[in-house]
Amino acid sequence: MTPRTRPPTGFSTDAAGLAGAVDTENAAARYDITIADTGERYSCAGHQSLLAGMEQLGRKGIPIGCRCGGCGICKIAILEGEVRIQKMSRAQVSAEEEAQGVVLACRVRPLSAIRLRVLGKMHRAVCGPTTPLISNPFQSNLAP
Ligand code: FES
Repeated sequence: MTPRTRPPTGFSTDAAGLAGAVDTENAAARYDITIADTGERYSCAGHQSLLAGMEQLGRKGIPIGCRCGGCGICKIAILEGEVRIQKMSRAQVSAEEEAQGVVLACRVRPLSAIRLRVLGKMHRAVCGPTTPLISNPFQSNLAP
């Protein structure tokens, strides 16, 4: 087995950007994926996108859009781990965002255990609406 060469950031870009391109060496592997926002974990096969694996959680509310990197609804940030990234729309993920680990879950396959954070519409769907932990019942009385 030959070692893989990966960029120092831990990201591997699928230069061809083909939806059907599969790393056959990695296809049979399964990896633990942790959603840092909720602590939920799921198993994702090496041939699956992180979004497809997330769907198998069976949770309502996980937004499923175009599944091909065009709509941006499945935006996540990779906090730890190595992934293979397929071509994504620059309208959805800028080069700067990608350099910081932001990707589209439908265009990313795991190469190791992953810890991720959900962003944007995906965050609202997975984590629910944000509510203040403490509310001040006198706030309205203090307002000018
Ligand atoms: S589902 Fe549309 S970009 Fe991922």
